[in-house]
Amino acid sequence: MGSRALLTSQELYGRALELLPGGVNSPVRAMRSIGRDPIFVARGEGAEVIDVEGNRYVDWVMSWGPLIAGHAHPEVVSAVQAAAGAGTSFGAPTEAEIQLAEEICARIPSAEMVRMTSSGTEAAMSAVRLARAATGRDRIVKFAGAYHGHVDGLLADAGSGLATQGIPASPGVTAAQAADTLVVPWNDRDGVERALAAGEVAALLCEPYPGNMGVVPPAPGFLEFLREATTAAGALLVFDEVISGFRVARGGAQEREGVIPDLSILGKIAGGGLPAAAYAGPRTLMELVAPAGEVYQAGTLSGNPLATAAGLATLGLLDEDAYRRLDDATRALAEGIEAAASGLPVRVQWTTGLLTLFFSDRPVRNYDDARGCDTDAYAAFCRAMLERGVYLPPSAYEAWFVSAAHDDAVLDRIADALPDAARAAAAATEEAPA
Ligand SMILES: Cc1ncc(COP(=O)(O)O)c(C=O)c1O
Repeated sequence: MGSRALLTSQELYGRALELLPGGVNSPVRAMRSIGRDPIFVARGEGAEVIDVEGNRYVDWVMSWGPLIAGHAHPEVVSAVQAAAGAGTSFGAPTEAEIQLAEEICARIPSAEMVRMTSSGTEAAMSAVRLARAATGRDRIVKFAGAYHGHVDGLLADAGSGLATQGIPASPGVTAAQAADTLVVPWNDRDGVERALAAGEVAALLCEPYPGNMGVVPPAPGFLEFLREATTAAGALLVFDEVISGFRVARGGAQEREGVIPDLSILGKIAGGGLPAAAYAGPRTLMELVAPAGEVYQAGTLSGNPLATAAGLATLGLLDEDAYRRLDDATRALAEGIEAAASGLPVRVQWTTGLLTLFFSDRPVRNYDDARGCDTDAYAAFCRAMLERGVYLPPSAYEAWFVSAAHDDAVLDRIADALPDAARAAAAATEEAPA
């Protein structure tokens, strides 16, 4: 095969638009909400991505969470290579699946048994099915601004200040699918109580440390309240720890907060950058899943050997010291941003390994607050950072993901870029129509 000229991101985007809806395989990557075209990535190294034109960026997206060890970590790569050499998929059980399940159960307090899937969406969908089967009820309560994958019923988002019946948030979701979903504002105890009082609630789903409206931690005592309120209502409490699991602590938010859900949804880090996710819980619930029980759920590539190997290798790198360093790096990042943006109306909200810079003069406690932020200022900030070699989430409502590869040298690079980007954000704020 002869060599061909390398294409720029712009040229590749032109081709992609002909073949992929919006030029991408997942919407946020298109960078539309920051008003520019996407960057096509050629490779990743540690805390950096390198685009097809050879530009290097400090990466704060890290594939949206799985890459807590950094890009192409040698131990993860060699584990995947070794697994691939022995066969890429069998559709039959392997020992590595037991090892990964053991590792998950050793870390996640609520997990006694695990069922692996290929994506967080699938795990969330299956956990909901299991909760409905276990309780004999249909309704689900979720929080506005929480994302649990693109499961039909979970895309419902009324987004109002009250617990309301869900309305479809996407064409193609039927009214019937949305009708069983009640949507409540995050951190709103009254809203939760009203939704549970509606009756017939199978499960309340939450991201215990929400990351999909930006990082919006629970108010003190809120997770404990959810535990008590769901138990009293006979509903299951389901923690979606697809982001927070293995990130905010060894055993996720549930270990850190000491609040134990009935079911947990896991993903991202569990597959170390390859497609793997899981749902987990006590034996009494998990043995309702086929073939132990009658709740059907299956997957051609579930427990895939490459994904299992990547997950095990990644989790093997995450000891207590790794979490201390992750926490230190996130704190240093938060302090650096606060210093560079002093004088601007910003809020930095963060926890171990996760951070969001909100352009707001008030704390962000729920989705309505998040939507009140200045997204034009964030877009200008984000574009300016990209021009200075820093790749941030191209949306004001996403978390920045810190990894073990984000060392002092990387933090210095962002510190250099921050003042100019803060000025760009300030200019965008001033230009905005009153
Ligand atoms: C909290 C949460 N749950 C579920 C999902 C869905 O996972 P996946 O993209 O693997 O389907 C995501 C994805 O970002 C997520 O952040």
